[in-house]
This record gives sequence, C-alpha cells and structure tokens, in this order.
Amino acid sequence: MEIVIAHDYEEMSKISAGLIAAQIRKKHDSVLGLATGDTPSGTYKELVRLHKEEGLDFSKIKSFNLDEYIGLAPLHPNSYNYFMQENLFKHINTVPANEFVPQGNTDDPEEFCAWYEQKILEAGGIDLQVLGIGRNGHIAFNEPGSSLASRTRVKALAQKTIEDNSRFFESIDQVPRFVITMGVGTILDARKILLVANGKKKAEACAKFIEGPVTSQVTASALQLHPFVTVVLDEEAASALQRKEYYNWIRDHKQLVQKKIGR
Ligand code: F6R
Repeated sequence: MEIVIAHDYEEMSKISAGLIAAQIRKKHDSVLGLATGDTPSGTYKELVRLHKEEGLDFSKIKSFNLDEYIGLAPLHPNSYNYFMQENLFKHINTVPANEFVPQGNTDDPEEFCAWYEQKILEAGGIDLQVLGIGRNGHIAFNEPGSSLASRTRVKALAQKTIEDNSRFFESIDQVPRFVITMGVGTILDARKILLVANGKKKAEACAKFIEGPVTSQVTASALQLHPFVTVVLDEEAASALQRKEYYNWIRDHKQLVQKKIGR
C-alpha cells in the first residue's frame, strides 16, 4: 500500500486527479470505478479542469459507480446518479451509455445487482477504482461486519453513516436506510485502487485501515490484501498514523524506490 500525505484538500485532489488522468492517458478505454461524496468532489473538479484546459479525453472511458440509495430516482437531487451528473459527467466527454451508476429505483434490486456485476465483467473489469472512506471505516457502503468477499448487493446503512449523510437531506428521517453497493470482493477485483481521505474526522478510520489488522469491522482494511493500492490523504486525515515518517521518506525518494524495487 502506497501512502501519500498531501498538505491539504487541494493538494490531495490534484494528486488523485493526476493519478486518474495518468491511467486514462495510458489506456484510453480504461474502466474506472467511481465514488461520490465530499472527498472526491475536488478530484472531479480537477479532472474537469484537465479535460477543459488540457484536453483529457474521456470519450472511450467506461465508469461504474460504487453505490446508490434505494428508493431515489436518478434525477433526485440527493441521488448519487445526480451527484455524478452535476460534479463530473456533464462537464466532460464521457458517453452516457458508458456511465454506470446503480439504479436506486429499480423494481428488482437483487436482479439489478447481478446485472451490474455482469456489466463490470463484460467491460473487462475495473482498471482503477476510486474510493472514499466512511468514519466507521467503510468503503462503498460496506458497513462494519460486511463480508470481505461480498459482491454487489443490498445493504442497510449503519447509524453512523445515516448521521453523517443526513447533512445532504432536510432531516435525518429522509436518509434512505437501504442502498445498493458494490461488495468488498467486487472492489478487490479492481486492478488498481486509489483511496482518498481528508479531514480530522477520517483520521481514526485511516489509522485503523492502514496500520491495524484486517477485519470486517473496518472494511477498508481489506485493501491490505490488494497488491496495488495508493492512499492519498491530507495531513489531518493522516494525523493518527504511526509511521508517517516512513511514508514521507518513500514519497520523497520515489525515484530511488522505483529504481530499487520497480514500483
Ligand atoms: C460514496 C461512498 C462512500 C463515501 C464515504 C465518505 O460513493 O462509497 O463510501 O466515500 O462515505 O464520504 P465523504 O467523502 O462524503 O466523506
């Protein structure tokens, strides 16, 4: 796991957008896994800038979002479909038929989940999966206790997540209790993973998943089992890490490290 500690949210967003852009430039028809939320908004803003000012081309990209609230139609302002349109898709040149976001108002969520997994397979699998992290250590909506082998399915949200996400709704009672989410196993199948995190409120979860044991109580810790994970944190999110000096040394000696160990 490569840990990159940025000074602040802006730098974190630039670094993570740079990594996504590098993936797209290397493979024009990359399959991206995308997250929503406050954390990746800055990354998406930077990707939009790279598209508008530097011609970053998304026309051959396919993308699969991690999750969606059950019961919200794609045009609902609190849906993740809407978030993706507003924060990314409508500003770049992705092809709408290649933008996959789970459908919250499907009649048959179980069938939908199987279809979604199938679509990811048909696309050749995810090349680069972008993740945020919840305060309780969740990735996508894999709440504590989720199987580390889980696939796309319906999950009930944990109380902490409902409280955190209530900031986007008029009242906490309006936050849907159920979601469709990619599983931990689905995420681990991606060829590369990029997790971004910022702010003091994520410090404990970050210390646990990076430096603690692998446990279904902190589903992000499953990323320790993946060979190609980059974590980009701001200083606040990194503040509870024990081995900060080591991570910073690796970052500052990247060329030497690449020469010695080839990464
Ligand atoms: C969203 C997602 C969630 C968020 C996490 C952090 O698609 O999968 O796991 O990444 O809840 O949310 P923010 O970034 O709003 O703090």
